[in-house]
Amino acid sequence: MSAIFSKQFDTKLRLAAGAIVLTLGAGGAVLGYLLHPKQLDTGYTPVQPVAYSHKLHAGNLGLDCLYCHSTVDKSNYAAVPMTETCMNCHVRVKEKSPKLQMVRDSYATGQPIPWVKVHRLPDYVYFNHQAHVKVGVSCVSCHGRVDQMAEVRQVQPLSMAWCLDCHRNPAANIRPAEYVTKLDWKPEGDPAEIGAKLIQAKGIKPPDNCSACHR
Ligand code: HEC
Ligand code: HEC
Ligand code: HEC
Ligand code: HEC
Ligand code: HEC
Repeated sequence: MSAIFSKQFDTKLRLAAGAIVLTLGAGGAVLGYLLHPKQLDTGYTPVQPVAYSHKLHAGNLGLDCLYCHSTVDKSNYAAVPMTETCMNCHVRVKEKSPKLQMVRDSYATGQPIPWVKVHRLPDYVYFNHQAHVKVGVSCVSCHGRVDQMAEVRQVQPLSMAWCLDCHRNPAANIRPAEYVTKLDWKPEGDPAEIGAKLIQAKGIKPPDNCSACHR
């Protein structure tokens, strides 16, 4: 598939090729959907080099997602925090714990902790965190209750159908932007109704044209 979206093709050609692939693929679509690697990625929970727990830090201690993922509302990328952020506390807290040895080593040597990426889109897909977070799509819509996870796992398929399902009917996933990192937020009333009002007020209109996500 990467050949279809390689740089040698101009945009029109790439999209025409994509449309043909989609048409030809329609027959086997159901099987293709079920067997697609991204579907199998749901539940993917790689072992991390440090036993860092979101359940403890974001859940019990109540740290805001933005404390560590500070670029998520300002940039395409959410970025995992630098070791310095951990050491804000761990110079004093559990400063002798063997579970934090790699964190202390990383701090001393400047070598980043080799965190294993959990969510990954193919290179030919354009995604942008800021565009979602700024209009009030919560982390929970795409990552689930991370604040209850001892180990982060992928809960959504990240397939094209999944993106488009929300893009074509986003109302239930739009909330006031100040609550995007409050994963347990429950509106008073019907979320879809509240979302629909925000969509109108802010003129939110997620794209479903090919070139929005395949640039
Ligand atoms: C104290 C720092 C800290 C806080 C607070 C924090 N995270 Fe993280 N987050 C990390 C670190 C470190 C990793 C990489 C290790 C891992 O995946 O567990 C990570 C990884 C992730 C990933 C997986 C990224 C990937 O590789 O695909 C997601 C999703 C995530 N965090 C969401 C959240 C959400 C949502 C919140 C708020 C509820 C949050 N985080 C709060 C430090 C933090
Ligand atoms: C705001 C302060 C704070 C920050 C920032 C923070 N932690 Fe923690 N961390 C704690 C506290 C408090 C505990 C629990 C201590 C206890 O159990 O008494 C803890 C526990 C841990 C433990 C378990 C240690 C053990 O021996 O049980 C690990 C591992 C850990 N943190 C890793 C990290 C990593 C990695 C980061 C950076 C991504 C980080 N922490 C950032 C406060 C923090
Ligand atoms: C509309 C869906 C969506 C929302 C909302 C969302 N994310 Fe993500 N997130 C993704 C996707 C898709 C990826 C994989 C991106 C890639 O591979 O290019 C990802 C990747 C990440 C990563 C890994 C680092 C990176 O940039 O690749 C972290 C950390 C993360 N998200 C945290 C968050 C936090 C924290 C929030 C809420 C403030 C959030 N995300 C909101 C879909 C979302
Ligand atoms: C839960 C709902 C939801 C999901 C899931 C979702 N999106 Fe979106 N997306 C939105 C909303 C809402 C907007 C903002 C529209 C606006 O501002 O008018 C948006 C905007 C975008 C934009 C336009 C950004 C820009 O800079 O113009 C792109 C590109 C995009 N999404 C890609 C994706 C991709 C790729 C996926 C799947 C991996 C995805 N989205 C999944 C709701 C979602
Ligand atoms: C909202 C974002 C979004 C839009 C709009 C979108 N796509 Fe996609 N597309 C994706 C994502 C995400 C993937 C990767 C799916 C995966 O890895 O499972 C993808 C994958 C593909 C693939 C590879 C299929 C495969 O199974 O490997 C083709 C071909 C494709 N898109 C063509 C199109 C065409 C043609 C359009 C316009 C009709 C379009 N896309 C519109 C997000 C989008």
